[in-house]
Amino acid sequence: GHELVSVRRIVLTGFMGSGKSTVGPLVAARLGWRFLDVDDVIVAEAGMAISDIFARHGELAFREIERNTIARLAGEDGLVLALGGGAIEDADTRELLLHAPGTILVHLEVALETMLARCSGTDGARPVLADRANLAARYERRLPLYRAAHVSIAADRLTPEQVTDAVVQAGR
Ligand code: S3P
Repeated sequence: GHELVSVRRIVLTGFMGSGKSTVGPLVAARLGWRFLDVDDVIVAEAGMAISDIFARHGELAFREIERNTIARLAGEDGLVLALGGGAIEDADTRELLLHAPGTILVHLEVALETMLARCSGTDGARPVLADRANLAARYERRLPLYRAAHVSIAADRLTPEQVTDAVVQAGR
């Protein structure tokens, strides 16, 4: 359990390919909660793919939409929320998710090599992955921010079901 309030929201963070969008629905099903993927909400509301938002408006514009979308969604109860891999770089988002009563931020940690293997072939949909020259630096820069989450789960060698168990356990 966490402090004096019970957990009403589980927010999943971690690099691309860490399993947020796979594990999120499994956790939600176990708890009887709703699952939302921030990227899916952004795509539905913008009416265009993430890669098009990056290409037409730039990464900074995407980050602003992302920050506002998370702030709006993170107030819901009975919610499992999967963040995009870069959301953790925003200080307001970190502040919100680390200090909101009833929210736990859970980090799914995978090695860069694991991530590359899992995301192979998705460069077209993932502009940050496509930017190979900066990928390792991004990974290193984000790692301490992810690790500041309430819970960090080493997910490299775990099945989605095992990660789900660990996340549900973290919410108790
Ligand atoms: C990004 C990760 C993506 C998506 C966008 C940017 C990043 O989400 O938000 O392409 O900066 O790492 P996933 O982590 O779900 O791939």
